[in-house]
Amino acid sequence: MNSNELREMFLAFFESKKHLRIPSSSLIPSGDPTLLLTTAGMVQMKPYFLGEVTPPANRLTSSQKCFRTTDISTIGDHKHLTFFEMLGNFSVGDYFKENAIEFAWEFLTSKMGLDSDKLWVTVYLEDEEAFALWKDKIKIPTERIYRYGKKDNWWGPPGLEGPCGPCSEIHYDFGQTLGCTPIASPEQIRIWEEGRDYAESDVNQPGCHPNCDNCERFVELWNLVFMGFFQNQEKELSPLPAPNIDTGMGLERVSVISQGVRNVYETDLFRPIIKTVCLLTGNKYGEDNAIDKGIRIVAEHSRGAAFLIADGVIPGNDDRGYVLKRLLRRASFYSRNRLNYPPDSSPLLPQVVDSVINQFGCIYPELEINRKHILAVIENEEERFYLTLDWGVHTMELLASEAQKLWE
Ligand code: SER
Repeated sequence: MNSNELREMFLAFFESKKHLRIPSSSLIPSGDPTLLLTTAGMVQMKPYFLGEVTPPANRLTSSQKCFRTTDISTIGDHKHLTFFEMLGNFSVGDYFKENAIEFAWEFLTSKMGLDSDKLWVTVYLEDEEAFALWKDKIKIPTERIYRYGKKDNWWGPPGLEGPCGPCSEIHYDFGQTLGCTPIASPEQIRIWEEGRDYAESDVNQPGCHPNCDNCERFVELWNLVFMGFFQNQEKELSPLPAPNIDTGMGLERVSVISQGVRNVYETDLFRPIIKTVCLLTGNKYGEDNAIDKGIRIVAEHSRGAAFLIADGVIPGNDDRGYVLKRLLRRASFYSRNRLNYPPDSSPLLPQVVDSVINQFGCIYPELEINRKHILAVIENEEERFYLTLDWGVHTMELLASEAQKLWE
């Protein structure tokens, strides 16, 4: 199933469960000074969850544009992304844990037809209700229900304050052959989690497990947040006016599973962009890890930059502008130094971004509407970067030759 079909299937499924489909909001959060960029589908729901604004319906569904800055320096590996689309269903004081769990399970197993034996779930350490729902209602064997603490199974608030709560995640198992060690039992992981110092790495883990960071056996697919609390800037919790549901499933990750590929860059969301980068730079994808990393960085950052500019971000030296500048400079640097894009050719990134707009413009019309502006901003920034880079290299060469003369 291609990603457009998947996105549509998700939204239509939740419409059939009486949810109102709402458009993605901008990557620039409105009315929330504590948040730099929209990091999750629930960002536009915050005023509803807090009881400040009446929602258009108590059940909502969306495919939300999201941007997370924490991972920029890791982009180029097989799984991290800055920009991604998050599929979500939301209940504003309507249904709670039971329906949220049932809907997610029905979508994955009946609609998508995933093998239920490959789905493992996690719950918050103290969440007996969620544990019992998975075990008794959904009939997941207890060997595949794990309990974790706040790091993995408590979500929010996004920004300095806001709604938050315990969560339950569904993980997909790519198979034992990808595991780092034999699997640890839920009981071993519970004991480890209860006494765990999160500052430590995972070296002391009692075995592989759904949240293992040491291998690629599991991928977190869907996060169901039971949004019951408000956390203030002093980190104090108080109950929200009503319990809410916020769920999020990354379209890129679910496309990996649906399309039977190994990583997000092999899905139809990235293949055309990767192909463009290869054509323009004369490189081949899949033959050399270092080259692949460069190709991924150029593709990923071009995609992220196009969406940021379409929503009104321009390169600058602070906040969102700096995030965009960093993306464009990192992509330019890799295109020249790793992919050997010739300095005298016309700027690369506008050509890559053009293919991004061709691909996503029909789903996100703001890309198409702002095409000329997006391309002009990117071209200008790429040229400025090369000028700075060339000036820096030239200055270093001059200094080196002066130093040489002093030696002679
Ligand atoms: N807000 C949660 C997340 O981002 C669920 O959507 O994971």
